[in-house]
Amino acid sequence: MAALVLFGGGGDLAMRMLLPSLYFLEHDGLLPDGLKIIGAARSEETPAEYVAKVRAAVEGKADGAWSDDVWERFAARLDYLAVDATSAESLKPLKDKVGPGTCTSFLAVSPSLYARIVTAMRAAGLAEADDRVVLEKPVGRDLESFREIDDAVSDAFSEQQVFRIDHYLGKETVQNLIALRFGNTVFEPLWNSQNIDHVQITVGETVGVGDRWPYYDEYGALRDMLQNHMLQLLCLVAMEPPSDLEPDSVRNEKVKVLRSLRRITPEEADRVTVRGQYVAGTIEGRPVPGYDQERGQPSDTETFVAVRADIDNWRWAGVPFFMRTGKRLPEKRTEIVIQFKEVPHSIFDGGRGVIQANKLVIELQPDEDISLSVMNKRPGLDQKMQLQPIRMSLSWGQEDKGAKPPRRRIAYERLLLDALNGDSTLFVRRDEAEQAWKWVDEVSDAWAEGQVKPIEYEAGTWGPKEASYLLARTGRSWNVGDA
Ligand code: BG6
Repeated sequence: MAALVLFGGGGDLAMRMLLPSLYFLEHDGLLPDGLKIIGAARSEETPAEYVAKVRAAVEGKADGAWSDDVWERFAARLDYLAVDATSAESLKPLKDKVGPGTCTSFLAVSPSLYARIVTAMRAAGLAEADDRVVLEKPVGRDLESFREIDDAVSDAFSEQQVFRIDHYLGKETVQNLIALRFGNTVFEPLWNSQNIDHVQITVGETVGVGDRWPYYDEYGALRDMLQNHMLQLLCLVAMEPPSDLEPDSVRNEKVKVLRSLRRITPEEADRVTVRGQYVAGTIEGRPVPGYDQERGQPSDTETFVAVRADIDNWRWAGVPFFMRTGKRLPEKRTEIVIQFKEVPHSIFDGGRGVIQANKLVIELQPDEDISLSVMNKRPGLDQKMQLQPIRMSLSWGQEDKGAKPPRRRIAYERLLLDALNGDSTLFVRRDEAEQAWKWVDEVSDAWAEGQVKPIEYEAGTWGPKEASYLLARTGRSWNVGDA
């Protein structure tokens, strides 16, 4: 029988995301028969106490999917053991609980413990040839520390057994982007520098750092979001068509993109990057404190970053990829915008200006939607033809008018299911993570060398105005929230 061990099983990630996701998988009949789910954490509590905590967490998230029957089935799988995960001795009783069969261990703990935990797991027999380990990001805070941790991981597990999570890859719309690009013939011929003017990737959040600052202050927006989620999105937009969806086929293409990213030199950092940090302001009508106030003292950590990335290959030469992410922005909004070029010549009165260039917007949050804006004739008998832009949604629902849209899934549902089935297509390979760190390290080195300090922005705004200048200098503007 297989087992899933959640190290850090009582922590925030497990309670907010992992256990509710597993409940939903149970609800949909997708969990493998006989799978045991074992919470493993430091706190001394009984399995019954743990199950009660899980129930409260799951019930709060289940909405319409709550069912006592499903819960009973789910609760029957749950178990708990208090462990010191860094000690092989302490993990031995866990190995007994796991028993024979594949064991998938999810490390939902501080990455600073990963190396010691995997070493202890190996000694305790929890890293056998069929076992797997799932690592939450961020692994390390730069290339060097990533390698240190990953070396310990690869002493215990082979690369095929390691599942490095980037939860953005589990989001439905991200997978839809793959379907859109490679399941249709219409987009791929246009997907290049001849037709695309630029690409924008925005991940805006209204939340602040709050009490996560001890972690966040060490990482900042560059390492917390750009190194992983945003570069992964960039890879999926920019990669060449893989020959199939096998894990290595997709990951080979992604890593080529990362290798083609132009390095950001200290001389250029000022021109192509923006660092920001929020100060007190107002979000959704509520006053909110600044980052320094939350942290209790001044800090040079950025809570906003915007970067112009260039991909030096044939497909993307001359097409900038603008990325920005920040805390305490006015909206929780994640989108990828593929901005096509303008028509070369307008036959309509008023010239090219009346025609808005086509735009493909892949929205991950707040709504999941893919839409294409095209120009259309405004209905009527005007003497001169009047044009208007219209938005065509390419998402689920257009075909099934009146049908209830599928439940919005937690990204971890897909990823937990894939890890349990041993499918690593949507996980990050070691060389990908290394390349991403390499590029990000150059950005942070450039900031350090140029003494680039974060620019203040008021909470509730779209970051420092320099982020608008980043595009304005090239005659472009952000799709949302430009100054
Ligand atoms: C996490 C970051 O990886 O992603 C957080 O550590 C961030 O800082 C979160 O808030 C955003 O995820 P999502 O799915 O809400 O966009």
